[in-house]
Amino acid sequence: MSSVKPTILVTGGAGYIGSHAALVLKRAGYKVVILDNLVYGHQDLVKKALQVELVVGDVTDRNLLDHLFKTYDIAAVMHFAAYAYVGESVKNPGKYYSNNVVGTLTLLQAMLAASIKKFIFSSTCATYGLVETVPIRENEPQQPINPYGASKLMVERILSDFDKAHELKYVCFRYFNAAGADPSGLLGEDHTPETHLIPLILLTALDKRESISIFGTDYPTPDGTCIRDFIHVTDLATAHVLGLEYLLKDGNSDVFNLGNSNGFSVKEVIETAKAVTGKEIKVVECDRRPGDPPCLVGSSEKVRKILGWNPQYSSLEDILSHAWQWHQQRHG
Ligand SMILES: NC(=O)c1ccc[n+]([C@@H]2O[C@H](COP(=O)([O-])OP(=O)(O)OC[C@H]3O[C@@H](n4cnc5c(N)ncnc54)[C@H](O)[C@@H]3O)[C@@H](O)[C@H]2O)c1
Repeated sequence: MSSVKPTILVTGGAGYIGSHAALVLKRAGYKVVILDNLVYGHQDLVKKALQVELVVGDVTDRNLLDHLFKTYDIAAVMHFAAYAYVGESVKNPGKYYSNNVVGTLTLLQAMLAASIKKFIFSSTCATYGLVETVPIRENEPQQPINPYGASKLMVERILSDFDKAHELKYVCFRYFNAAGADPSGLLGEDHTPETHLIPLILLTALDKRESISIFGTDYPTPDGTCIRDFIHVTDLATAHVLGLEYLLKDGNSDVFNLGNSNGFSVKEVIETAKAVTGKEIKVVECDRRPGDPPCLVGSSEKVRKILGWNPQYSSLEDILSHAWQWHQQRHG
């Protein structure tokens, strides 16, 4: 086999998870081209930390995609570009169906026109909805309870139909909660607005926020707070490279959960953050939020078995200390 590795298009590569995937791809020797409209992405990180080609544009722009696929010899596409605010998706579902469904469909059609038939998709545990059995396996019924989750499930169905009709081969990853930052300190999480638990806790530790709210302390869990599955973003990125290599070796389309298989409660995360940062973090206990299941943990058995995924940073201490290193640098 030739030692020259192919070029991979990473949509949404100026965002949190896409930028980490681009970094891991680059470390593994792949050439990377990023397509991002910079609505939420960070150009400075692509330029300084990644130093890869950035095409500023939108996945809904078919002409741009056709031009891009003519300009670069793309072997596969990793598709991270999407909107991902659950609350906003409830208030403005059209925005989510346009970007996440129509945008992906436009991308897939441009790929087929260019005979590119390998695709890696960022799906989500939000496609499962309110599941009572944990850990959640991939064959659990998918009944999303918000337009964000529904938009991702629609794409999963499009992918399955495109495989049957056009032999488009895909790996679909259903992420649980991506967290942490690359251990090098080069990249990390920087969403605006920020809604994710770990950055909110660390921004509180940095005095950028007054307090962190816990929504519900009377859940049927050991300490009464919700339990969630946090997966280190670098481990998540590594799974994408394994998924890519599986497709490049003509693997069949498949779907994998990406989680830690280990749940951590909100209180546990806050206590570990206090220990890692050495800071007092003010906590406000609030009522439960509607639609929050007590415990969401995914089984990672399938991705370990089939793709040989072996996460390196599954402890809460690793996730928090890497995120803390990044946040101090970016926001301190
Ligand atoms: N963060 C999580 O825990 C999590 C969990 C489950 C699934 N996901 C999925 O992972 C993917 C990445 O999430 P993230 O947290 O890195 O989000 P992010 O907002 O940091 O990154 C998304 C990137 O896509 C870009 N983008 C959005 N729409 C675009 C468009 N139409 N054309 C071009 N670029 C566009 C944004 O500018 C941004 O840089 C998303 O598809 C999201 O739904 C994330």
